[in-house]
Amino acid sequence: MPVSAAGYLRIASTDTSAWMDFGTKVLGLMDAQIEDGAGARFLRMDDHPFRFMIEANDTDGLIATGLEYPSEAAWKNTLDGLTGEGHTVTMGSVEEAQRRCVSAFATVQDPADNTLELYWGRKLDYVPMTSPTGVSAFVTTYQQAGDMGFGHCVLPAPDIEASTDFYLRFIGTGLTDTLYPPGMGGLKINFMHANNPRQHSVALFGGPHPLGVVHIMVEAQTLDDVGATLDRAKKSGSHFLATLGRHVNDNMCSAYILAPGGIAVEYGYDGVLIDWENYVPTVSVEGDLWGHEYNFPGMDE
Ligand SMILES: [Fe+2]
Repeated sequence: MPVSAAGYLRIASTDTSAWMDFGTKVLGLMDAQIEDGAGARFLRMDDHPFRFMIEANDTDGLIATGLEYPSEAAWKNTLDGLTGEGHTVTMGSVEEAQRRCVSAFATVQDPADNTLELYWGRKLDYVPMTSPTGVSAFVTTYQQAGDMGFGHCVLPAPDIEASTDFYLRFIGTGLTDTLYPPGMGGLKINFMHANNPRQHSVALFGGPHPLGVVHIMVEAQTLDDVGATLDRAKKSGSHFLATLGRHVNDNMCSAYILAPGGIAVEYGYDGVLIDWENYVPTVSVEGDLWGHEYNFPGMDE
């Protein structure tokens, strides 16, 4: 299980100002105020220099998922494993690594053509994170220093067996559990964990998605953080993809809001932390203990 965490996301946006407004004024993330030659904007959740890079583009969607390795040796070992089996690994330049505030990174496509940026050695930002909306904290660490990443993302994986095999064999995630959501004709979601107690850092959804990501999740510390955020989302006119609910597997109590451009953001609290040493993967046929009533855009009109 060499991969440490899902560290950052690069998001393409047709309106970066709207995304930043949503990120800061609704989600309560902090504008990292990083100058960028290409005009990208950056959002902070904690002492990492950014967790979301919002890049101007003529389409909306996920560009890449940054996955963190604990050392240069673990990172190189992962790259060797990929190239040894014929996967194309592209090394990032020094300038590109600096832009991501990492020591080094390399890019690889997973079997569904999702772009992964594998990195090690992130530089931190010691200016304290302050939420502009007063979110008490985002849950990104354990035991004070261990990185749990920004949260999780769910990536499309139409050939879910090939994708799962790729992440298990090469990326270094472990299988946490499998969900067959009710009413979806046997469609499968595999939840994968990294080497931190978060129940899943990446999940693989057994179908395609036009935005390159099914949803992303950020976890705040308290129910009040979630409730106040949902109030702000409602006031700002955000579309609610799902009402408040609690998932069976990661115990996340969350709601889903659409960001400008359409990416679904799961905003939750109370996610379970797991000791992987004694864990056995499970299978679920229910997604929720309660709530999470879905309302896909256009379906209610
Ligand atoms: Fe989720």
